[in-house]
Amino acid sequence: MEALAADILIIVKRDVPNGLEFLFRWAHVLAGITWIGLLYYFNFVQVPAFAELDAGARNQATDKLASRALWWFRWAAAATFAFGILILLAQKKGTGDGSRLFDGDYWKTAPGISISTGILLGITMFANVWMVIWPAQKKVIANARNVLAGGEADPDAAAAGRKALLASRMNTIFSFPMLLFMVGTAHFFGGGEFDPLPSGSDRGIYWLITIVIWLALELNALGVLGGTAPGGPRVIFDNHRNAITTGLVLTVVWYLLWVIIF
Ligand code: HEM
Repeated sequence: MEALAADILIIVKRDVPNGLEFLFRWAHVLAGITWIGLLYYFNFVQVPAFAELDAGARNQATDKLASRALWWFRWAAAATFAFGILILLAQKKGTGDGSRLFDGDYWKTAPGISISTGILLGITMFANVWMVIWPAQKKVIANARNVLAGGEADPDAAAAGRKALLASRMNTIFSFPMLLFMVGTAHFFGGGEFDPLPSGSDRGIYWLITIVIWLALELNALGVLGGTAPGGPRVIFDNHRNAITTGLVLTVVWYLLWVIIF
């Protein structure tokens, strides 16, 4: 009996951390597809369709349809983020070779650099949802409901809608390389084609270029580089085709960065 209990304990200790990590991974991807699926719906379907509706129909659709889609969108973003952090915490227990999360060496390996880049992009997208898109969309929804109830239109609603649109197209662009790094961490970047433990100077060059690309794009989306009007550096946000092309080009650029540096 005692031997059986000891065996069970060994199995639980061995399998529960792996099982938990897998559960978090599954929930993370489930929440992620919900979030990014709705992001693509907004960008590729809703925005072009709303542009063809008259103001009355658009206000109705904002009230009844967009408000519901935004609920699932922002809470799926929160769940994706939370389960992503839980994967990291579960990995800490599950590796058996000590703490990954607090062991600085993991972050110096190819998979560590890959997931750090993915998380940088994922957290930026999460911040865009909760700190830019949702506050702006709250104004748009309040305005639509107010006008439907016979009130005056809010003169700031159009500017709020534009701010949300830029951040939303930025998230579409970021989503392509973000997924490269999310999936690439376990299935590509650690697979032997790249240096498993890049030197400090290689990592320095990689992070410098990565931070410059990330910051320039995000500041551009926030209107910090000369405002929010269409054209100029914001041509990448002018329509969803430009955003898709930019996302694909950015994914190739990041892949080439890995090929050249690591
Ligand atoms: C919001 C911040 C995010 C954080 C902190 C995060 C964190 C993580 C972590 C730690 C992993 C495990 C990497 C590994 O060791 O294999 C992972 C994998 C993954 N993540 Fe994220 N993630 C985030 C956003 C997203 C988003 C927005 C998506 C969109 C779908 C996503 C999709 C995935 C996928 C598909 C995997 C790979 C699963 C696998 O290969 O088994 N993540 N993420």
